[in-house]
Amino acid sequence: MPVKNRFNNLTSKQWLPFQKSWFKYIDNYDLYEKNLTFFTQLTDEITPRVYYQGNEHDLLKSLCKEHRRVLTKNAKGELQFAMLDLRNRFQTVEDYLTNKPELLELCFYIFDALQHRKILCIHIDQIVGESYYPIAWDLAKVLGNTFSLKDEKIACLETNNNPNSTTDNNLFYSLYFRKDEKSQGAKSVFNTRLIAEKNSLGGMPKPSISSWHVIRPPRRKPNEVLHPAKYPEQLVDLFIEQFSEPGQNVFDPMSGTGSSQVSALQLGRNAYGTELSEMFAQIAQERCAEAATDSSLQFEIKNQDARQAPENNWPKMDYIITSPPYWDMLNMKGAEGQAKRKAKGLQLNYSDDTNDLGNIEDYKEFVNELMSVYKPMLGMIKPGGYLTIVVKNIKKKGSNYPLAWDLSSALIKEGLQLLPEVFWCQDDINIAPYGYGNTWVSNTFHHYCLNFRKCE
Ligand SMILES: C[S@@+](CC[C@H](N)C(=O)[O-])C[C@H]1O[C@@H](n2cnc3c(N)ncnc32)[C@H](O)[C@@H]1O
Repeated sequence: MPVKNRFNNLTSKQWLPFQKSWFKYIDNYDLYEKNLTFFTQLTDEITPRVYYQGNEHDLLKSLCKEHRRVLTKNAKGELQFAMLDLRNRFQTVEDYLTNKPELLELCFYIFDALQHRKILCIHIDQIVGESYYPIAWDLAKVLGNTFSLKDEKIACLETNNNPNSTTDNNLFYSLYFRKDEKSQGAKSVFNTRLIAEKNSLGGMPKPSISSWHVIRPPRRKPNEVLHPAKYPEQLVDLFIEQFSEPGQNVFDPMSGTGSSQVSALQLGRNAYGTELSEMFAQIAQERCAEAATDSSLQFEIKNQDARQAPENNWPKMDYIITSPPYWDMLNMKGAEGQAKRKAKGLQLNYSDDTNDLGNIEDYKEFVNELMSVYKPMLGMIKPGGYLTIVVKNIKKKGSNYPLAWDLSSALIKEGLQLLPEVFWCQDDINIAPYGYGNTWVSNTFHHYCLNFRKCE
């Protein structure tokens, strides 16, 4: 029997594509229409009321007319959907900070006006004037104290011809906040002034790398398949070429199958690392031996807890690229891809070792332990060197855990300079109809590649 759609007027076929967490829209019309039709429901009795603020008021007005929605300025308790388009709205970080209280007031007003379980959507980019500052993350954190932060999408408009990449200025976030039983109502507690001041790029050159990359990796070899969460060498190549030079030293404290080192060696860099699991450390070491065709290059993977890595007598590193366990998600029943691995008799998690960070259940403890890997490791990087961390924001049991943003804040506090994030977008996984007919849950197919620079 077909599932009844109580959420919007879309068929399951129309519903599914919007669930992808990264999205290329044709233009603003396409962006607004897709959001408007996904988040409102028209019935015989109800005409959805919508609030909008942004630079395209006339466009939204005509869209509402076309779809029999009412664009309204004042609708206490009646709103089905609200959309704020804040792209290009702020000229400087100061401009954002000065206008933030007023913006929050507006969102508190919207909170009161929204119907239960309805959505406020905010489109926002992270380039303010000429510099980069993570205002989308900041706003998401602050408003997460009022609404429930339901989901995020990264998006761009189709202005360039390369379907696999997008340029810096074009990428934006669509943040989805829901008024629901978990949300706490109007309150503002987050003071980000300090982070703002530290974080402005202040004349530093932006990396020339594009903001997102759709990578379709080749079929994995049998020894690589043994690992449940390997990243592709093609992804690593991009960053190694951007952030290091031939002959320099590259490190990964959680090497897995050694993808970072294989890429480094193939690009003429020395490659070092640690890995907790004996089996993966051995696979990594073997793969390195195969990749190191230039005998002048050095490589070594130690079978060791990453927290001990700085105690070794490594040379100073020019660049570190790494990806941690995505919290304990591999231990969750029904996690993405787990059924297929189970059917093939493959290992579902990294190990059952209590030192494996992927076995920590408490989120705060997990972030703290991960920082106890990263903090001492920063001392291994040469001044002016770079660090890239590949990670996801995590959705678990209906709640959001912004791991990428939390790690960024913690590393900024350690004195690192945050550079614009780059996304690894996956296009080779089937979309699952989570929440169909009831609620909005995206399929998270984008990974953050967080980039940092160690000050000279
Ligand atoms: C996301 S995977 C890295 C995959 C790797 N980038 C690759 O492409 O093969 C995370 C790795 O961290 C390792 N790990 C977990 N806890 C660790 C610890 N305390 N010290 C070192 N490695 C650890 C896991 O065994 C796993 O291989």
